[in-house]
Amino acid sequence: MSNYKGLLCTHWGHWSELTYQTLPRQPLTDGQVRIRVRHAGVGFAVSLFVAGKYQRKPPLPFTPGTEVSGEVLELGAGVSHVAVGDRVMAALDWGGFAEEVVTTASTVYPVPEGVPLTAAAALPVTYGTVGAALIWRAKLQPGETVLIHGAAGSLGMAAVHVARLLGARVIATASTEAKRAALLNNGAHHALPADAQALPSLVKALCPRGGVDVVFDPVGGDLFDASLRCAALHARLLVIGFAAGRIPQVPTNLVLVKNLAILGFNYGQYIGWGLTDERTTHEEDVREVLSTLTSAMARTDMPLPVTQHFPVSQWLEAIDTTMGRRSVGKVILDFDKIPFKGDTA
Ligand SMILES: NC(=O)c1ccc[n+]([C@@H]2O[C@H](COP(=O)([O-])OP(=O)(O)OC[C@H]3O[C@@H](n4cnc5c(N)ncnc54)[C@H](OP(=O)(O)O)[C@@H]3O)[C@@H](O)[C@H]2O)c1
Repeated sequence: MSNYKGLLCTHWGHWSELTYQTLPRQPLTDGQVRIRVRHAGVGFAVSLFVAGKYQRKPPLPFTPGTEVSGEVLELGAGVSHVAVGDRVMAALDWGGFAEEVVTTASTVYPVPEGVPLTAAAALPVTYGTVGAALIWRAKLQPGETVLIHGAAGSLGMAAVHVARLLGARVIATASTEAKRAALLNNGAHHALPADAQALPSLVKALCPRGGVDVVFDPVGGDLFDASLRCAALHARLLVIGFAAGRIPQVPTNLVLVKNLAILGFNYGQYIGWGLTDERTTHEEDVREVLSTLTSAMARTDMPLPVTQHFPVSQWLEAIDTTMGRRSVGKVILDFDKIPFKGDTA
């Protein structure tokens, strides 16, 4: 395949201004892998990325998309942990919303038997973030109670699954009855309205210790403020994202009085998106956390990710579903219905 199709961002702006078009094939250099993309995860951050408001700005023009699954098409010199034809998933700098992508081998991971490629596109960034945050950073323990905000979203639903795998009790928040029903169906012990005013008393009523041990917060804003009141003494609060749009300010008196630990967590630091590129430094640690999670899925100790699929022809609707707060689990763009030259039927 000399050319392939993908979404292109030619100027900083609104995500609806992306175009789906033919793109020239990228060169492959040492230490890189060319992947035939079958599925690509859509994240909230795509809107920030194409607006030029994300921590990192790719050179224009570029293709957005940071997590994919597919098969290895070609290897650069020095790559040995995967082979041509292997089923893989990858965390990317960008480039995932296309039929083909070239990326560094250090963030390409084999997909084990028992995990379909349709699900694997939700793993390298979304489950990587959640696993690393709950296991490395918060050190969530069996029997602890975790409060998960935005729990029907892509990180949130993954956090419900991972927290259950770790043996925690899960209190999830979401804005609609339908989302709360989906959370109860997916392992949350309790699902509460995302109502910052009502939340502290509802949470305390469920917690004999007077609050939760860990908070996983990808939403920020008023829910973060409420979390300080939902927290038990000595609780750990994970600052993951600000989907609500407001970056909260912390009243440190509450942090002091309750012996709280507020833990910032940026998964990007571990996969090459940080101020300095540390992807090779953390390669083995990231591989290990992803392997823990994919092995649990393959053994059916943890459910496969909850996904909502759109063919790439419906990319506008797919991104709008995420941005419009209508998604449950991970929105995935499917490229696998497109025939490729050389594909067998
Ligand atoms: N720290 C890290 O390493 C890391 C890694 C990946 C992503 N992130 C960040 O985490 C955040 C969540 O990402 P995601 O992919 O899980 O997003 P998502 O799938 O869109 O879920 C976000 C959830 O936030 C809630 N929400 C509340 N107010 C919202 C608003 N004004 N607009 C949209 N959603 C709102 C929604 O739940 P309700 O409707 O139920 O309220 C929604 O389900 C983003 O800010 C992203 O940039 C951080």
